[in-house]
Amino acid sequence: MKIKSLGLENIRSVEWDHESQSIRMIDQRLIPFKISFLQLNTVDEVCEAITEMAVRGAPAIGATAAYGVVIAIKEIENLDNCDKKVKLDGMFEQLLTTRPTAIDLANFASLAYQTAIESNFSLEETLLKAENLADEMVKECIQIGINGAELINDGDTILTHCNAGPMATIDHGTALAPIFKAKEQGKEVKVLVDETRPRLQGAKITAWELEQEGIEHHIIADSAASFLMSKGQVNCVILGADRCLKDGTVSNKIGTLSLAVNAKYFGVPFYSAFPWSTLDKESKSMEEFEIEYRNEDEVKYITSSEDKILIANPTSKALNPAFDITPAELITGYITPDGILNKEDLSKK
Ligand code: MRU
Repeated sequence: MKIKSLGLENIRSVEWDHESQSIRMIDQRLIPFKISFLQLNTVDEVCEAITEMAVRGAPAIGATAAYGVVIAIKEIENLDNCDKKVKLDGMFEQLLTTRPTAIDLANFASLAYQTAIESNFSLEETLLKAENLADEMVKECIQIGINGAELINDGDTILTHCNAGPMATIDHGTALAPIFKAKEQGKEVKVLVDETRPRLQGAKITAWELEQEGIEHHIIADSAASFLMSKGQVNCVILGADRCLKDGTVSNKIGTLSLAVNAKYFGVPFYSAFPWSTLDKESKSMEEFEIEYRNEDEVKYITSSEDKILIANPTSKALNPAFDITPAELITGYITPDGILNKEDLSKK
């Protein structure tokens, strides 16, 4: 992993454990308090890890779903071919419905499923496909880092939102990859980390990843971002994406839209970084897929490693949309494995 401290250099946040023939992942709910691993042996366990966000981040849940198809093949090993197909289809559906917004999940699971069918339910071939998808995505993240670093000048302060680092992409990251690369190139970079209410992926995971890489950063309340932009304290905003349409519209963690509106108002360049598994080549509009709404407890309670503390009026209801939608006119450019693209470039992909 990009993060070399804590003995993490030779692992990914999600990977296939060849010895136990199961998925091994870092439980992201416990970062930064604990590095703890989960071992997933059944499709039910894989689905629970995704819905409960032990694994999160669009590319990481994509890789998990591809490995989930391999787990499904293991589970149906002893059935006859006709039953195998019915059972596999059911488990594939179950994987697809775990989290609806990030397209990487459907893209990777579908490719692994296709290989499973074409290879007559071969475990080896489906696993090889899942491994290739994961490897290719990590390579793309490395390239995103190289391409995106060109946008960062010595002394810049970058604002980021949610977590789009190594944990979210199994390695290297998308939004954080250019920052890591710029630092490697000897540039001095500072990062403002949106805490990212309600689940605090920024305050917990992004801040921890930046610290491991020795990058100067401050966690800020989400509501502080526009004030800091107005004071000229942000040179550029870089964040990830959970789904990007070919017209350049991006769905990403809730709060992205207000950052984009503010960045436009204050003239701060605003970039979305993603690998090709995040491109939705089918949907013509954001109405064609679901924005995930999560449990209201995420808003009403703050969760640490073990404690869950009520911080709101107990009897009030809460609304918890997990993602929002940012139109292309608010986005300066897209940091991709193929370079810094504009929306016309994306429409040709
Ligand atoms: O709900 P999450 O934590 O899975 O949401 C993740 C994000 O919104 C990330 O910014 C996005 O997946 C890009 S990750 C490289």
